[in-house]
Amino acid sequence: MKPFVVAIDGPAASGKGTIARNLARHFDWPYLDTGLVYRAVARNLVKKQLDQNPRNAVREAKDLSIEDLQQEGLRTPEISQTASVVASIPEVRETLIEFQRNFARKGEGAILDGRDIGTVICPDADIKFFVTASQEVRANRRYQELMSQGEGVTYQEVFDTLVERDLRDSTRKNAPLVQSEEAILIDTSNLNVKQSTELVIAKVELGLRDT
Ligand code: DC
Repeated sequence: MKPFVVAIDGPAASGKGTIARNLARHFDWPYLDTGLVYRAVARNLVKKQLDQNPRNAVREAKDLSIEDLQQEGLRTPEISQTASVVASIPEVRETLIEFQRNFARKGEGAILDGRDIGTVICPDADIKFFVTASQEVRANRRYQELMSQGEGVTYQEVFDTLVERDLRDSTRKNAPLVQSEEAILIDTSNLNVKQSTELVIAKVELGLRDT
């Protein structure tokens, strides 16, 4: 049986990852955070002290394994920046398509979140969401997260980096972050985790009933 695929796209710190994880727990379906795919490529480049040029990045993308996504240090500010650069290289994106699609072929259901899941990776997904929030709310969430991890950053630095990343993610030529026409918009600026999760679960349950 073809798995019921849930595609969740949205910018950094929109809450999509938390929603996706809760959804995965609720339905007991596997979940792939595709940001980790780009982060792991970035981390492998940094670890090996390789230049972030397309050739090196493609080689690391080809060698990527699912275990690489579980390594430490994928969420540091340095790796966030490098991942955004790596993700803007068209050949890297091309190389990583199958890795992500393979995940969407397994099990009864599959949840993938990222920037281009509904548009490029799984255009035939059974249900698509676009999760977002204002830049101020998202920067504040990321700031609180980094503070709790003991990272010495200011709110302004986090805000500026987020604006820069948003711009790079949404203006790159290849698979930019855009809301696909069929995607259900979820603005989490004024919603807590429980409210956002319940909203998405209800939509998926409706979608499951229709299939
Ligand atoms: O969601 P995240 O912050 O972990 O993503 C890390 C970087 O990877 C981010 O700059 C956007 C990019 N990305 C992407 O281009 N496409 C995806 N499907 C997921 C992430």
